[in-house]
Amino acid sequence: MQVYVKESQSFKSIEDVTEGETAMNVSGTELREILKQGQQIPDWFTFPEVANILQESYPKRQNQGFTVFFTGLSGAGKSTIANGLVARVLEGTAKSTTLLDGDIVRQHLSSELGFSKEHRNINIQRIAYVASEITKHSGIAICAPIAPYKAQRDSARKLVEPFGTFIEVYVSTSFEVCEDRDVKGLYAKARKGLIKGFTGLDDPYEAPTNPEIEVDGSSGDPALEVEKIYDFLLSNRLI
Ligand code: ADX
Repeated sequence: MQVYVKESQSFKSIEDVTEGETAMNVSGTELREILKQGQQIPDWFTFPEVANILQESYPKRQNQGFTVFFTGLSGAGKSTIANGLVARVLEGTAKSTTLLDGDIVRQHLSSELGFSKEHRNINIQRIAYVASEITKHSGIAICAPIAPYKAQRDSARKLVEPFGTFIEVYVSTSFEVCEDRDVKGLYAKARKGLIKGFTGLDDPYEAPTNPEIEVDGSSGDPALEVEKIYDFLLSNRLI
């Protein structure tokens, strides 16, 4: 492995670095982070012509796409907040914004799938793939599935992050509130045993432990929750 030696201002093999010499290196991950943040590539790292081309190939943070990935129980308020966010984002940017709502994706993209763990995985993989393409092309993807499994959400993140920021938003409305609201009447059906494997009842929901944002879908004011997410986008210079 070649490293840059500060004292002699030259590159040499890491094995040849002697005591008293400072070996410097930028890993692939660090370089991608520098480019993503629009920071300066250290001038010792490469020729200025190469640095320019690298920087041009990565759009500035404000021109990059990103994905907002909601997760939460059925009836938690994901769609309401996601729709509100779409409207809010449209006020603040000319970037194209696509909503991938759980129910709508299941109508158009995943109509043959059920709710087994395997099918839910495929569903989330499809959403994540579309989100990664949107992000790659500098758009905004707003996804709102239940996405009950942590591993699915992490693999969605992995798919998107090479192209832009991934923001996980946990809509943490409690099971009791969701069941009490029961907007679609599905909790009642599941209680009667008419729907098997219903998330939160007889199917798992692995709550995120480290989401970028947590919002409460039972606060009574979704606009407030939308603003919380919008503020995050602003403070991270994504908009
Ligand atoms: S996910 O698990 O694959 O992410 P997705 O968000 O697409 O779920 O679909 C969830 C929606 O499907 C719910 O809002 C609800 O309307 C409906 N649904 C039907 N059966 C189930 C079930 N067994 N568990 C959860 N939601 C269900």
